[in-house]
This record gives sequence, C-alpha cells and structure tokens, in this order.
Amino acid sequence: MSTLLTAAAPTAWTALQVMQDAPVIPVIVLNDVAHAVPLARALVAGGVRMLEVTLRTPQALACIEAIARALPEAVVGAGTVRCKADAQAAAEAGARFAVSPGYTSAVGQACRDAGLALLPGVATGSEIMMAQEDGFTELKFFPAMQAGGPAMLKAWSGPFFDVRFCPTGGVSLQNAADLLALPNVVCVGGSWLVPADAMAQGDWSRITQLAADTQALRVR
Ligand code: 3PG
Repeated sequence: MSTLLTAAAPTAWTALQVMQDAPVIPVIVLNDVAHAVPLARALVAGGVRMLEVTLRTPQALACIEAIARALPEAVVGAGTVRCKADAQAAAEAGARFAVSPGYTSAVGQACRDAGLALLPGVATGSEIMMAQEDGFTELKFFPAMQAGGPAMLKAWSGPFFDVRFCPTGGVSLQNAADLLALPNVVCVGGSWLVPADAMAQGDWSRITQLAADTQALRVR
C-alpha cells in the first residue's frame, strides 16, 4: 500500500479569522517595493499581522509578493479588489484574503475561485442582501464614517442580526473604540497605522508604535 504525500497547503483563512486576529486591519498604500517588507515587519512587531495592501499603485502586486515571500508570520491580503482580474492577480502574488470597496457577484465568485477569503464592501441594505445571497456574512462597511458610522451599524443590527462588519473609512484611534464596542463589529480597517510621511522617512519604529497602540482596543 502506498502513501500519497502532498505538499502542505498554506493555511486557508476565513474572512472571520482575518477579522478576529487584531482590532485593526491596516489599509496600506505602497508606492515603493523597497518599503513593503520593512513596513510589514514593523506592523507585525506591533502585533498586527493581517495586512491589506491596496491595489492602487503599480507596485502593489510586487509588494504583496515581497511580503508573502519574506514574512511567513504576516498574512498579506489585497485591498481595492474590484474585478476578477484583480482577484486572480492578487492570489498569484501570494495574497491570502481580499477586500473590495463594493460588491458584485463576479468579484465574490472570482475570490472563491482563487481561494481568497473576501471581505466584501457594502454601504446599503441592498448591498448587504446581495452579499448574503452569495454566502458572505462578514462584510466591510465602507465608507463607514461617511455613510453613517456607529448609528448605521446599530440600525443594521436588527434586520441584519447575522452579519458582522469591519467598518473602514474615516476610522481613527479616537473613534475606533466606539465602533468596536458594537456587537456586530469584529474589527475596523484604517490607514492611520501607516502614515505616508513615516513610510517616506523609513520611520518604522513609529509604525510599530501605532500598531501596538491598537492592541488596547481589544474588547473581546
Ligand atoms: C480606503 O480604502 O481608503 C480605506 O477606507 C481607508 O480609509 P481611511 O484612510 O479613512 O482609513
């Protein structure tokens, strides 16, 4: 009798696991591939390892690839995933999860096909219902503060009692605690952990401190 050995597959993350890992998912915009690994290291040193690298710059995919190769202790995801090609390219670069600013069934299917956990972006009840119809119950509320903030999340907790959110957009260390106190909020997303000037200056210790400061936001 022969034993079939296969290479260990990398851990497949669920959207809920991605959300539960830390209070904040940093929204990262990288213009320089040389910044990718030191930045990721700085965030991991501050206790933040779920890293959303947005597909907004020509360097984004190379940055995802660099982090995925160099830092197995980080879990790199792709943000700003808007179409099938984005999902495929992100998975090929080594992303383990995807975040989208809105939701379409095509993006949902593409992420499933690519093996990426997806946090679909929603801002209305209809969008929540479309995402739920396709089997997504962990959603990004975007743009959170501009679209109603905590009051909107409270209103949604009635009809959408079975949905959990990651509010993103206009979130800061100052307002994150109010959001995280809501029972239907698992984590928040935000760019404040990664200030462009700190990155330009290579001030990685400041970024580690900003990440470490978010640990105090853990509520459950
Ligand atoms: C984004 O996709 O740009 C995020 O929502 C980040 O928003 P923020 O810069 O307000 O944190």
